[in-house]
Amino acid sequence: KIVNVILSGGVGSRLWPLSRKSKPKQYLPIFNEKSLFKLTIERNQAVCEHVVLVGSVQNIDLAKEDLKAVSHDIIVETVPRNTAAAIAFAALSRAPDDILIVTPSDHLIEGDEQYLQAIKRGIEFAKAGALVTFGINPTRPETGYGYIESEGNNVLSFREKPNYDTAKDFLKSGNFLWNSGIFCFKASAYLQELERFDPKVYTASKAAFVAAKDGVLDEELSRKIPSKSVDYAIMERSDSINVVPSFFHWSDMGSFDSLYDYLISKGHPQDEHGNIVIGESHKHTVFLGVQNCVVVNTADAVLVLDKAFAQDVKHVYELLEKEN
Ligand code: GDD
Ligand code: MG
Repeated sequence: KIVNVILSGGVGSRLWPLSRKSKPKQYLPIFNEKSLFKLTIERNQAVCEHVVLVGSVQNIDLAKEDLKAVSHDIIVETVPRNTAAAIAFAALSRAPDDILIVTPSDHLIEGDEQYLQAIKRGIEFAKAGALVTFGINPTRPETGYGYIESEGNNVLSFREKPNYDTAKDFLKSGNFLWNSGIFCFKASAYLQELERFDPKVYTASKAAFVAAKDGVLDEELSRKIPSKSVDYAIMERSDSINVVPSFFHWSDMGSFDSLYDYLISKGHPQDEHGNIVIGESHKHTVFLGVQNCVVVNTADAVLVLDKAFAQDVKHVYELLEKEN
């Protein structure tokens, strides 16, 4: 079977106050009235027969309505243990030969035809036993992504979140693609590489999974799982990786600068200095003497942001978390 594993564990802290722990960004209906989560399900239905959602106990209920339309299982995390473990739970729940298409739930993808073409190519490599990544042409020295050094479909190296100077070198060399965060492999191939390169994550994830009740992972055992992303745990180390260079339009809607660019491209109103208002306010908003500012309105919080500080919003979120 071909199975869509949807990871939905992030809180989207850089999109505060739009994105909340109780309602993270992937469940907000901000894209043509649909959520990124719903769009993810729909996009993958063309190739996948089943969905395994791995998500947080704090907001998993928000997913249930959209899942009704498809054959699915839900794995509920009581504490977030990052993506190496989240994918392991999904893999453990499936037959060894099932092909998993692992997708984040919070990316915006346009060009479904190119997307499906890339996925189908990926499935071929996965059937042959590879761990498959999907590479996007990089356009800036982004430090929040993984970089794949490649030659055709072969991966020479994988480098997660390089510093700015390294990212600049990667961009200049022309041999690197961005890791889209979408993966494809046999369930057995993933578990085998995890056991080999990170036996601690493997063993602890298995223990928490085996002790799960009604799809809810055991909390005490979950806390023992080292928190590591799949990129550091496996992708940087394995030599069974392939990449499919991909040409769909891809955006990690991680922060207000990418959301800003997207909204502007869709004709969202802005003033002559590039200031915009996002959110549900009916108040007349005026910007004077400032440029490239974003005002984010929600019922109980307002953010006034200079777009250049978009990455720092997560610190506001962390501060509020501490106070609560
Ligand atoms: N279920 C679950 N549990 N999901 C999780 C967890 C968890 O503990 N942690 C993260 N996720 C989900 C997030 O919700 C997101 O959909 C996806 O896994 C990736 O996690 P991020 O935290 O957003 O990773 P990242 O953006 O820093 O980096 C990854 O994505 C980049 C592309 O957007 C890496 O794969 C990079 O290499 C890649 O370039
Ligand atoms: Mg991300």
